[in-house]
Amino acid sequence: MTRTQVGIIGAGPAGLFLAHLLAKQGIDSVILEGRSQDYVLGRVRAGVLEPSTVASMALLGLDGRLKREGIVDDGLDFRFRGRTVHMNLPELTGHRVVIYGQQEVVKDLIAARIDSGAPLIFGAEAVAIEDIAGRPAIIYVQDGVQKRLECDFVAACDGYHGIGRASIPADRITLHERQYGFAWLGVLSRSPPLPDMTYSNSDRGFALCSRRSWEVSRLYLQVGPEETPEEWPAARFWDELHHRMFDEDARAIVEGEIFQTDVAQLRAFIAEPMQHGRLFLAGDAAHIVPPTGAKGLNLAVGDARLLARALGHHYATGSSALLEGYSQACLDRVWKAVRFSTALTGLLHRMPGHTPFERALQLTELEYTAASPSAQKAIAEQYVGIGIQEPWMLTEAL
Ligand code: APR
Ligand code: PHB
Repeated sequence: MTRTQVGIIGAGPAGLFLAHLLAKQGIDSVILEGRSQDYVLGRVRAGVLEPSTVASMALLGLDGRLKREGIVDDGLDFRFRGRTVHMNLPELTGHRVVIYGQQEVVKDLIAARIDSGAPLIFGAEAVAIEDIAGRPAIIYVQDGVQKRLECDFVAACDGYHGIGRASIPADRITLHERQYGFAWLGVLSRSPPLPDMTYSNSDRGFALCSRRSWEVSRLYLQVGPEETPEEWPAARFWDELHHRMFDEDARAIVEGEIFQTDVAQLRAFIAEPMQHGRLFLAGDAAHIVPPTGAKGLNLAVGDARLLARALGHHYATGSSALLEGYSQACLDRVWKAVRFSTALTGLLHRMPGHTPFERALQLTELEYTAASPSAQKAIAEQYVGIGIQEPWMLTEAL
């Protein structure tokens, strides 16, 4: 394989969605993935799919397992001062989300790509992108051998540490970054989850009870930036979670075998613009949002939709108008997601350095939210993606 229309670096959600959306329009692509298939399938990430992400799976005809195994979710709960604010998503927004792990999405997309016979090369690490402004080529290494893939366009869907963003000259790109000064310790536990997605703001810090299925809970605690999984043996984890979720008598949260633990720093990162010459960035390569609100996957899928549409338009009409507008179209959504995730992060976490005044304001904001259907609606609509994703992503077929 030495030439293709679109060379895609990375087989995460952004690269895989893009490849499928292009194939549906008759556009060829090659996906180069540095890691092995097992490694890619084993990565644990979030799992809240906005309706537009579910619609994207459906328009590719790849939503069979999602429909069978995904949990259609109507609720979003905030806890504070021992009370629960329950937000009913369909009543407030007309929409629901679906709980289905990013890992499962990736598994379905990889299986379909392999079935189609279209190229997806694992163990192929891109090391350089040549002639971005003219006739681009991706230089990659497979089994110790250097190879070259010529393409009309390069899509860097290669995550935060990829080479795509780094290939844009420093004076042509602006990088925005914020560290939040704390992390999330996440575990997977073999135990039935709470019935609703529950975020909690307690005096001891933030906690979140999410799930992957009715048998597997996904649970998070806010921890300091330097803390490690080793500092959180199971007994300490459960004790702290019960406290932070106002479940002191340990009746609501069921303890189970913890079979996976990780720590992720909270940060935001945005690269502007997301394109240079014939190189386009999508997903984590261009932006990271703090995890509160679970926007990362949905933004990556949105980028893939916009890029597939722009490339489709280019090949169908010869016009590069949509390609030229790609970055701005993405960044409009990305900044709205960063804004929402930052606001939710601020509402729900104990901030290092919070004064009693700021803590009182935060609790007052939660009191206001509890009492105001309008405030709840504003949160619920952004949680399901309204005002963030473009409306056509929900409905438009290719
Ligand atoms: N060559 C080939 N592949 C590469 C290279 C390289 N030089 N660098 C990185 N990759 C691969 C990684 O191994 C990874 O599989 O690119 C892929 C990027 O995938 P993701 O990190 O999953 O990023 P993306 O597709 O943008 O999905 C974003 O992932 O981190 C979460 O919250 C985030 O849910 C969001 C989603
Ligand atoms: C998850 O299920 O992993 C999850 C849910 C909600 C979030 C973040 C992560 O805000």
